[in-house]
Amino acid sequence: MPLLVPPLLKPPLLSYEGLSVALPGMARPILDGVTLSVAAGEAVALVGESGSGKSVTARAALGLLPAGARTGGQVRVDGTGLVGADAASLRAVRTGTASMIFQDPRAGINPVRRIGDFLAEALRVTGGRSRAQADDRALELLAAVGLPDPARHLRQYPHQLSGGMLQRVMIAGALGSDPRLLLCDEPTTALDVTTQAEIMAVLRQAQRDRGLGLLLITHDLDLAGATCDRIYVMYAGRIVETGTAADLLAAPRHPYTAGLLGSSPPLHGGPQRLTPIPGVPMSLAESAPGCAFAARCPLARPGLCDQSPPPLEPAAAGQHGPALVACHLNEEKR
Ligand SMILES: Nc1ncnc2c1ncn2[C@@H]1O[C@H](COP(=O)(O)OP(=O)(O)O)[C@@H](O)[C@H]1O
Ligand SMILES: [Mg+2]
Repeated sequence: MPLLVPPLLKPPLLSYEGLSVALPGMARPILDGVTLSVAAGEAVALVGESGSGKSVTARAALGLLPAGARTGGQVRVDGTGLVGADAASLRAVRTGTASMIFQDPRAGINPVRRIGDFLAEALRVTGGRSRAQADDRALELLAAVGLPDPARHLRQYPHQLSGGMLQRVMIAGALGSDPRLLLCDEPTTALDVTTQAEIMAVLRQAQRDRGLGLLLITHDLDLAGATCDRIYVMYAGRIVETGTAADLLAAPRHPYTAGLLGSSPPLHGGPQRLTPIPGVPMSLAESAPGCAFAARCPLARPGLCDQSPPPLEPAAAGQHGPALVACHLNEEKR
C-alpha cells in the first residue's frame, strides 16, 4: 500500500523564509523578513500598494535581486534555495520549474519579430524542440489561451495584437516550458476591465488544468479575493496579514487590509462610499521605530503602536482557516 503523506507535510512549491533585502544608504529595507508559501496547485495572492515590495518579492522567486542588495533569509522553489545559488540551479528554476508574467506584455516582446518567432524561440530554448515541433506546440498553446486564430497570430507582429491578446501570447509563452509555478506580477493592470476579467479567467483555467502553484501579485484586493485561495497583505516590505481569501475579505484583521477594502469599489454589489487610506505609503528613505502603518492608521495608539514593530502572529482563526496578523491591537482581540 502506498504511504499516504498528508498534504501539510509536503514542502511547499515556493517558500520565502524570512527574506530580507536592503540597499545601502536607505533608511529601511525593501523587504523585511518576508515569510510566504505557495503549495503545488494552490493560488495565492500578494497584495499591497505601489512601492510596498511586491515586484521585488516576485523577482526573488527567480533568484533576481536588486544589484548591490544585502539579503537575509532564503527563497526556495521546489526545495532549491535561490539566495546564493549557482548559475546552473538558477537556470534550472527559470527554464523549468517557474515562469513569470509581467504587467506590460509589450515590454517583454521584441516589436519587430513575429509572434511565432517569439514563441518558437522560447519553446526551443526550454524544450529542446525542432522549429517544426515548436510551431506545433505554439499553435496548441495559443489555442489553449483562447486566441481565435492561432495560425494567423503566429505570422503577426506584436503591434497587430491588442494588449489583451498580447498578454495571452505571453501566458502561452510562460506555459510553454510546462512550469509548475506561475508568478504573475500585476498581469492585468495595464488592461481595461473587461479584458482584465478575461485574462484572469485564462490564468485561473491554466492554473486549475495544470495544477500549477500560482502567485498573483496585485494591488487589487478584490481581484485577489476572486482569484485566490489565500492572500498575503504587504505593507512597507513586511507581511502584515495573511489568511484565507474568504476570511480576509469578510473580516480583515489588520487596519491596513480594512483600508484597502474600503478604498476600492466592490466587484459585485451596489454603490458604496469609498474611503481612501489617508497619507502616503512609507518610502525607502523613511523608517519608523514602531508599526510602519501607524502614521496612517485610524486605530493607532500612541505609546503602543509607535514603539516597536508588531510581529506577525496568529490571530483568532477565521471561518475558513488560520490567520496571522502583525498588529499591536491583535493581542486584545484574540
Ligand atoms: N533595483 C532596485 N534598486 C533600487 N530600488 C529598488 C529596486 N527595485 C525596487 N526598488 C525599490 O523598492 C521598493 C519596492 O519596489 P517594488 O517591489 O517594485 O514595489 P511594488 O511592486 O510593490 O510596487 C520601491 O521603493 C522601489 O523603488
Ligand atoms: Mg510592482
